[in-house]
This record gives sequence, C-alpha cells and structure tokens, in this order.
Amino acid sequence: MKAAVVRAFDEPPRYEEFPDPVAPQDDQLVVDVVAAALHPRVRSQANGSHYTSTGDLPLVPGIDAVVRDAKGKLYYALLDDTTLGTMAQRTIIEKDRSVALPKNADPVTVAAAINPVMSSWVALRRRIDFKRGSSVLILGATGSAGRMAIQVAKRFGAKEVIGAGRNPRRFKELTALGADRVLTLDQLNQAGDVDVVIDYVWGEPTAKGMVDLITHRHDRGKDLTWIQIGSMAGPSAEILSAALRSSRTQLVGSGIGSVSGHDFRKEIPQIAKAVTGGAFDVRTQTIQLSDVATAWTQPLDGDNRIVFLP
Ligand SMILES: NC(=O)c1ccc[n+]([C@@H]2O[C@H](COP(=O)([O-])OP(=O)(O)OC[C@H]3O[C@@H](n4cnc5c(N)ncnc54)[C@H](OP(=O)(O)O)[C@@H]3O)[C@@H](O)[C@H]2O)c1
Repeated sequence: MKAAVVRAFDEPPRYEEFPDPVAPQDDQLVVDVVAAALHPRVRSQANGSHYTSTGDLPLVPGIDAVVRDAKGKLYYALLDDTTLGTMAQRTIIEKDRSVALPKNADPVTVAAAINPVMSSWVALRRRIDFKRGSSVLILGATGSAGRMAIQVAKRFGAKEVIGAGRNPRRFKELTALGADRVLTLDQLNQAGDVDVVIDYVWGEPTAKGMVDLITHRHDRGKDLTWIQIGSMAGPSAEILSAALRSSRTQLVGSGIGSVSGHDFRKEIPQIAKAVTGGAFDVRTQTIQLSDVATAWTQPLDGDNRIVFLP
C-alpha cells in the first residue's frame, strides 16, 4: 500500500510503498483510511518531539482518522501509540477506541474536528470539576482547538467566555463563535476574576500573562484553575513563584497521561455525536496524501485544518 513514511525525524514524510497491515489481534481491525487530519500532535509525532515518542523509525504518522471497514461501515478511530498511524491507505484500529459513525457523516469534518474539540471537552469534563456558570479564558483562541474551546465552554454552560490570541485581525470570528470578549495576549490584566484558563500557548506569553492576570484579580482568594493543554509558544514557561503563592491558582495539565485512556474513550462517542450533528464550526482543507511532503512544509494556515485523503 501507499503511505506517508517518516524515515528521519528532521525530514518531512514521503509518499511511498509501505508493507500492508497484517493479522491483527482479536480486538483489532484492518481498515481503509478515508480521511486523516494533520493536527499539531501529528507534526510532533512525525518530528519525534512529542512526549510519547519512542524514537522508532520508520514511522507512518497520524493519530486518528475516519476509516471504513470491509462492510463499508464508517468509524472514527483514535490510535494508540504505534508506528503504523493513519496517514496510509490502510491501518489497524482497536475496536474499543473507535466509534461507528452515521452513514451521512462527513468524513473530512469528523477527521478535522474531533482532536481539537476533544482537547477542551475532555479537560472540562474529565480533568477538572467544571461548573456551569463559570467564566473561562482561552489562550490561543484563534487556533482550531481554541475556536472549538469557545464553543465547548459555551456548550457546557460557561457564563462568560473570553478568547485571547496574538492576532487581533482574527478576533471578529471569535465573537461570531460565541466569545463574549476578546483580548490580545498582552491584555490579560483585563480578564477579570475568571474561574478557568484553557491554555494552548504556554511559553513566554503564559509566563507574563499569568502574572498580569493574577495581579489584577479583584479577589485573589477566588479559585482559579489554569489548564495547560498546548504549547504553541514554547514547551516551558518561567512561572513567577509569587503568582502562585499570592492567589488560589491551581495549575493542571490535560492530555494523554493526565487523563486516562478510559476517560478519553468514554467521551469520544459524545464528541463524535456532537460533531456529526453539526454542533461545531469546522474549517478544513483537503489534500491528496500523495502531496504529503509539499503540504507538510507549506506555511501553516491557522484557519483550516489540513485533512489528507489517501
Ligand atoms: N492535550 C491535548 O489533549 C491536546 C489536544 C489537541 C491539541 N493540543 C495542543 O493544543 C495546541 C493548539 O492546537 P490547535 O489544533 O489549536 O493548533 P492550531 O490550529 O495550529 O492553532 C495554533 C494556535 O496557537 C497560536 N500560536 C502559535 N504560535 C504562537 C506563539 N508563538 N504565540 C502565541 N500564540 C501562538 C496560533 O495563533 P495565530 O492564530 O495567531 O496563528 C493559534 O491560535 C497544540 O500545542 C496542540 O498540540 C493538545
């Protein structure tokens, strides 16, 4: 079969022949891949920088996909750590990490949306005790996951959702998605006494923004839960110790490991149902898998999630 194959972590994947998947275990299925999206997590898998990387090569990247079984049934499948991912004509899925989709589901929309939706959905449902009526600030709100987080927080009953990002030209769309207010990342002193921060940015903007936000809280005794989910601006942030001592800030991470595989699996059917039911505004760009090397190196278009069609 054909697949996108990584043979060196400092080179983009190339479209080439790869051995067909064989003889899966009882709970596994060999399936045809219909659509697989290029999430940031897939990039870090393919360049070996993700914290789950084992360093094994060659590697077919891709952490999830919409797939079709031998009877023509469509599934959304989330893969465990494997060197045979979803950027291939065929792959192996595990039945208990897969959800059957309705016949009319749009494979491209589902492939693009579930990962970014899941990031905030799972964090609010499984990582913290999120209460309806809470106020939520999203850092990195202009990205795919950030835009979904606005919609997820509203869906879960947030009273106020504030979107924050580095590019004010994209703020109008955040309001259209349901953000009550928008701020640049250097205006976090105006966020007010928010209850929850969903952070896709980290790095220097978070280190500075956390201090700005905390020192301008009216009530520093009010609980603040800061959920670390992504690290677009850098993998580490120099957090001022006094910021944590002088406020009731709780810093937690949400992702593979801090949320159990069981908890992720429990949420996927509901997320898939919401996505296929049209609950989210999803923007996509489809590209043939044979063009993977070119697509990989093209400048990022934050508006549209790239979805490969094998
Ligand atoms: N833990 C989990 O469960 C989980 C799940 C999904 C995603 N994630 C992580 O969440 C993060 C965002 O994913 P995504 O799908 O939203 O990616 P995306 O669509 O590529 O969006 C990236 C966002 O980060 C912003 N950004 C990039 N570099 C930045 C910088 N140096 N300073 C400030 N902002 C910056 C972008 O701003 P512009 O709009 O201005 O370009 C955009 O808002 C990634 O790190 C991803 O790995 C985690």
